[in-house]
Formats: sequence, structure tokens, C-alpha cells
Amino acid sequence: CGIIGYTGHRPATPIIIEGLKRLEYRGYDSAGVAFCLQNKVHVFKSQGKLNNLENKLCSQEIYLTTTGIGHTRWATHGLPTEKNAHPHLSQNKRFALVHNGIIENFKELKHYLKGKGIQFNSDTDTEVLVQLIAYYHEQGKSILDAIYETLNQVKGSYAFALIECAHPNTIWAGRHSSPLILGIGQGENFIASDIPAFLNYTREVIFLEDNEIVELTPSTYQIYSLKNKKGISRKVTTINWDIQSAQKSGYKHFMLKEIFEQPKVIQDCLRGRIDECENTVLFSELENFPLPARLNIVACGTSFHAGMWAKYILEQIAHIPVEVDIASEFRYRNPLINKNDVIMVISQSGETADTLAGLRLAKEKNAKVIGLCNVVGSSIAREADVVIYTQAGPEISVASTKAMCSQMIMLFLLSLYWGNKKQLLTPNFKSQYIAHLLELPEQIETNLQILHQKANHLAHKYSWANSFFYLGRGLNYPLALEGALKLKEISYIHAEGYAAGEMKHGPIALIDPQFPTFALAPEDELLPKVKSNLEEVQARGGKIIALTNINSKLEVDDPWIIPNFKSPFISFLILPALQLFAYEMAVYLGKDVDQPRNLAKSVTVE
Ligand code: G6P
Repeated sequence: CGIIGYTGHRPATPIIIEGLKRLEYRGYDSAGVAFCLQNKVHVFKSQGKLNNLENKLCSQEIYLTTTGIGHTRWATHGLPTEKNAHPHLSQNKRFALVHNGIIENFKELKHYLKGKGIQFNSDTDTEVLVQLIAYYHEQGKSILDAIYETLNQVKGSYAFALIECAHPNTIWAGRHSSPLILGIGQGENFIASDIPAFLNYTREVIFLEDNEIVELTPSTYQIYSLKNKKGISRKVTTINWDIQSAQKSGYKHFMLKEIFEQPKVIQDCLRGRIDECENTVLFSELENFPLPARLNIVACGTSFHAGMWAKYILEQIAHIPVEVDIASEFRYRNPLINKNDVIMVISQSGETADTLAGLRLAKEKNAKVIGLCNVVGSSIAREADVVIYTQAGPEISVASTKAMCSQMIMLFLLSLYWGNKKQLLTPNFKSQYIAHLLELPEQIETNLQILHQKANHLAHKYSWANSFFYLGRGLNYPLALEGALKLKEISYIHAEGYAAGEMKHGPIALIDPQFPTFALAPEDELLPKVKSNLEEVQARGGKIIALTNINSKLEVDDPWIIPNFKSPFISFLILPALQLFAYEMAVYLGKDVDQPRNLAKSVTVE
């Protein structure tokens, strides 16, 4: 989601709308603005793209206000309807608030407030924030104290901006695990989720840190620490990027930005899913859902590869036999499924035509359907019996990257959830796996830059190649398929992903010094087998890049040494390495990385 707030000397609404346009890449299913006039809070919001909102804002009076807040939404709780669009109002209609993030304990807080007679108007997690602040204010607390009290009770991530009708020129804002940046102008101040929202007006910014609150007026800003309520002073940074690169947070392409977002995506997927006292995984969505005796996974493209990867994990950890189908095959092969079967459809967009048709076929046959989607309120999310949302946020680049990472994490969590329900997991196993998962975001973060440098070096070195093999076994086989797909999609180099052991049954005939191989060869129980496959390649003069770790002692042209993560956690390092290699190759060859030829982000036709 994207947040913007303005307080100054110019009409606020046009500045807010312009800011929202620049934030639209963060979410675009609904939008809204709020401002105070004549001791009343006014809210305008609408579903869909921003121009729907603009059309509602034609009255003159909106040009009278010089302070306001706005929001463009990417739904995480509640459908993308007007009712759920931000800003949300408190029951007494004095406060309006916009929020980006997830309030994990919103159900408990809502229950508490309902007990106090407060009625809710939306299905969002956000509304509890504004209602709770208003509630404490009504109890006699100052606005700042009401915010402190509320935030101290909230679990989850947030960036928010708030206005109150008796203070028409003040904005309160704060953050925890979601970005929020203060823009400092002359007689005007801004608050936004990202710099481009106000970069036309000021280049002087302060990056708010977690657990900080700020009170803004046209001529002042005061930052407070949530921990001790004390005032804080922070360094002002001058931005020297242009708007285009700022929208990509300084990255050259959305794809690169999205690859680098993966540590955060993992963190967001884990949020609220793990009970650290019990060492268990939580899926409240599945509480009343039968434990599958077997599972059919149906998906397309990158989502299909996530499904293939999950087959290994689900079978190993949860002992659930898994069949994985390409959706366009599944829908026409008259699959033998009935009411006792569980089908899982995986789709980032939730709109892929073949996957949706697979879902409908499964429902026709009375099977139960779980949807694993990124886009809240998408067709697949609405039609599935149960939906589990990945928390990847909007993915702009056509080639999917962070979405696959989020799907893999959710599927991994599911295997732990079902494995635990079946009492297959020892306490030691659970604690080790959960500890590893929780460490993962930081570990990936530490390694991404190094992976990027190596990917850049290798892509340049191999940019002469017209074809590539990607080989792997076990969990690395679906990843090899994904590596090859990424290279094809964005660099237009012919690439084939293959199960390493299957090479000898035909494809090996293609190997010669002009046909390099990208091997996935981390240390695991299959490494000796992969090594002999690679010797077969070398015997035919084939060059090899091998993603591996120090212990494996591989003698290949280009070993790409990565840290010794245990399987399956190492998959979360291999995936970005493959993505970065394809990315660097495409950039070096001068291709259109974010919008490759002939491809669409969401394929809604058969
Ligand atoms: C298109 C995209 C791919 C994506 C596939 C499935 O082909 O270009 O990146 O993996 O659709 O999309 P879905 O939204 O269903 O995951």
C-alpha cells in the first residue's frame, strides 16, 4: 500500500493525488483521501484505479484545504471494495487514518472494542487502529498519548498517517516494519511510504525508523520515540535521484528491486504464522479444513515450479502424496478426482485463465480447493473454498521473482503445519526448523549483495552463449527449471532445465564447448550423483557454472560458492542467485528486463 500526507500552504488534494499516482506501483485496488474542513473530517474513496477517485473529487471545496492524507491500497485483509478502502474513520467521525502493513492481533483488538460498544464499518485490520486511538482519546488522553497507548498494544507491521477534525493542520504518523519517510519543505511538510510521492516538492527527507511517531504541521515536525515518549532529532538527507529511479527505490529495474525484497517477503509471510512457545505453525484458515490424504497442485509458469518444489517438501515432512500439474494440462485430462480430494491452485495474480479453469473443474468434481494467491480478492481467491495469501506485495516486473519465494515459504509452512497435525514431527525437529525459518530473512539479506556481484561477473563471462542447460536433482530440479525459465523470459537465451540424472537419456547429445551448463550442486545427499552427471558433461567439453558450497570440492570451470545452509533452506539462496544471473545477463544484453517481449504478467486468456 502507499501512504501520503501533506500539510502546508497549497491546496492539499491535488498534491495528494499526484503523490498517489507515484505510489500506484505499491497497490492499486482502491484509493482514498481525507481532510478536515469546518471541524469535520471528510473522506472520499473508491474502488479500482485512481481516476475513479479523481472523478469523485470534482467539488470546489476540496481545494480549500491545505492538509490531508491519502492512500492507495493493496488488500491484505478484506476484499478490495470501497468499504475496505482507506482512509478509515473512527466511530465518532473525528479521526481518519490510512495504514500500510498488517495488524496481526486485529481480531482480539476488534473484539475488545466491540465489547466497548464500538461498531466497525469494514473488514480490514486497519480499522482497529483508528477506533482504538479514538477510544483512548475519548477516555481523556491527548492524541499523542492515545497513539502511544494504541501502538503499544498492536502486534504486526504498520506505517500510518492520522488526522483529527479539531486540528485541521496537523498530521500524526508512525511506523514499525513498514516504510515511512518525512519530506521537509518551506512552510510545508510531507509524509509518504516512498520518496517519489513528494519528490517534485522537496528533496530534503528524514527516514523514520521503527517505533517512531511524528507530529507534522506546515512549519514544524517533531519525532518521538514510542518506547519512552521522548523527542528525537534525526539527520536530514538530501535526495539526488530522479523520480523514476526513486520509484524503484534507486534500483535500475523493478525486477532487481523485487529480488532484493525477498528477505522482507519471507518476514511478512512468517508474520503471525509461528507460535514460538509451542514451536508450531498457525493456519487459522485451515482449522475447519480436512487434512488432505493426497494433494493435487495445479499452477502455471513460476507458480508451477513452486508447486513442484513443494512436492518434495510436503511428501518428506508431511507424508502427503502430491501430484503437480500444469493447469492447461490438468483442465483437459479429465483428472480422476472426487469429493475426497484436495486441490491446491497456486497463482500470484489469482487471475490466470488456465489455473482458474483448473479450480472450476475441481469444484465441478466436488473436490475441495485451496487457493494460494498473492492478490487479495482475485478470482481464484474468491472462488477457492479456502484461500491462503502469500505476502509478497505487488509484483510489477513481468518475470516473477519474489512471488515464488513467498509461495515456497507458505508451502514450507504448510508442510510443517500438516506434519505437526499428523504428529510426525519431533519437538527437536520443530524447534530446529522454526529457528532456521526465523533466521532466514537476515541470512538472505546478508548474502544478496555478494550473490549479485558474482551473478554480474558470471553473466558477463558467459554472455557469448546461445544456449544453457540448468541441471539439478531433488529440490534443485524445480529450481533448475525456474532458473532456465528466468533466463529465457528476460534474456531470450535458449535454456533447458533438466533433472540432472535424466540428461544422459538424450539431451547430453547437445553438449559441446558452445553449450554451457548451470548446475545446482549444493552439498546434500544427492551431490555425489550430481558430480557424476557433471563429469559426463565435462567429458564432452561442456563448460560448467556450479552453484555449490565450500565442502563440495567441485572441480568445474566456475564454482559459485554460497554459504552452507542446510537443505531445504538453501533453496532460498539458490533462487535469488538464479534470478540475479538471468537479470544480469538480460541487462548486459540490453533487453527490456521489466517488460520482456511477448510476455504478460497475468495471462487471462487460454
Ligand atoms: C505469466 C507470467 C509468469 C507467471 C505465470 C503464472 O506467464 O509471465 O511470470 O509465473 O503467468 O502466473 P500466476 O499469476 O498464475 O502465478
